[in-house]
Amino acid sequence: MISESNKVLDESRQGEAITLEQTGAGNGKKFYLESYGCQMNFSDSEIVASILAKEGYETTRNPEEANLVLLNTCSIRENAEQRVRNRLNHFNVIKKRNPKYMIGILGCMAERLKAKLLEEEKLVDIVVGPDAYRELPGLIEEVEDGRKAVNVLLSREETYAEINPIRLNSNGITAFISIMRGCDNMCSFCVVPFTRGRERSRDPESIVHEAKYLHDQGYKEVTLLGQNVDSYRWNISKKGEIIEPEKETVNFAQLLEKVALVAPDLRIRFSTSHPKDMTDDVLHTMAKYENICEYIHLPVQSGSTTMLKRMNRGYSREWYMDRIAAIRRIMPDCAISTDIITGFCGETEEEHQDTLSLMKDVAYEFAYMFKYSERPKTLAERKYQDDVPEEVKQRRLEEVIEIQNANGLMRNKASVGKTFEVLVEGVSKKSENELFGRNSQNAVVVFERGDVQPGTYVNVKVTDCTSATLKGELVA
Ligand code: 5AD
Ligand code: SF4
Repeated sequence: MISESNKVLDESRQGEAITLEQTGAGNGKKFYLESYGCQMNFSDSEIVASILAKEGYETTRNPEEANLVLLNTCSIRENAEQRVRNRLNHFNVIKKRNPKYMIGILGCMAERLKAKLLEEEKLVDIVVGPDAYRELPGLIEEVEDGRKAVNVLLSREETYAEINPIRLNSNGITAFISIMRGCDNMCSFCVVPFTRGRERSRDPESIVHEAKYLHDQGYKEVTLLGQNVDSYRWNISKKGEIIEPEKETVNFAQLLEKVALVAPDLRIRFSTSHPKDMTDDVLHTMAKYENICEYIHLPVQSGSTTMLKRMNRGYSREWYMDRIAAIRRIMPDCAISTDIITGFCGETEEEHQDTLSLMKDVAYEFAYMFKYSERPKTLAERKYQDDVPEEVKQRRLEEVIEIQNANGLMRNKASVGKTFEVLVEGVSKKSENELFGRNSQNAVVVFERGDVQPGTYVNVKVTDCTSATLKGELVA
């Protein structure tokens, strides 16, 4: 599971409108696109932009000026869906003035709410699921002919492998590359397997090609995206057998190596790792290549083995701690982040305490922390009672956050006095005179700009910190 704009993830990007340097043919067709949810959705929006640009569509940052408004939506928690509904109501006010205005939803809410949004509430004209973006031009034509248009079919093959995404809101330095789609894990709380369908991996050649292309364009960092990158497999069956003997097989460790070899000054990140599937091979590959960042997002969800069983995560607390030990053994400086859910079905006080103690033991650099929100169709909805009272979910969430804040500060303080290589990403939000970037461990580092340019690597000695940021000064 890819944490919400997680990562690699930046809450401030939610709902952000896109900008585009490349424009369409200028035939007056304009679209406006907002993205919600995980990085995968942001990455998908770049595929959609590419498909629409081929049709002559230009982008606009002003929804009033567009003929077509698209929302790339998220279903992971109920409040994510609520945000999108509020936006749909807003765009329908514009549509009242301009009946030709088309409103479409893409992404995870498409499959879930197609009938409701299209027919019952009449809030949208177009509904397109995550595997049907190639059909978008045809669907737009249907709407122009006065019909409602919908395609939410999920595919076992679609990976958009050869589509060259148009980078949206890009800093020209960091980019996402989608390496697989869907998820077969069926964690009991999670709606993703239902909204995004079966897991499938993208052709490794097209992935390496995209990384090379980005590097040629001046990009310095790529993040490989998948719901569970450790189960990436090319020409290997689910059971681990070779499918076509005369062809190369590629697992995730091998894919990482291929991308790392594209260029020594291209940093590689990836998300998300799954504790049940993460192999030592992946860790050894990370350790072997300087340009693979020492940062792993390894969602634990809960520190209790009985709870992990109800969550259908496929590992125990002991297994997870063994994976943490392997990371520390193979890469002592690797940063680790996690996702936590509080108040999942039947969570006892003891199980909650297990989560707190695990967080203390691991001392994560970073965590994304959520209250459980029941999702339709999931195993949990069918099998378990959402029986933890709201105030208990909230109190437990606050306790989790408190521990994480302390851990984050402790981790950052331990970095004071150390010097890191930082990839400069831009000007700090707080001051024109300061730049920011990230070190290999994904910590944000702020420093006085000197004559340094974004897109370059610099060495920064950390002199101070908050729980969220490292502050430092340039060193030679
Ligand atoms: N309720 C709360 N959090 C959830 N997540 C996934 N499904 C739910 C849900 N139903 C969280 C998990 C996942 C992250 C992206 O979102 O922690 O790793
Ligand atoms: Fe992640 Fe599990 Fe959801 Fe798959 S089912 S996306 S592994 S949380």
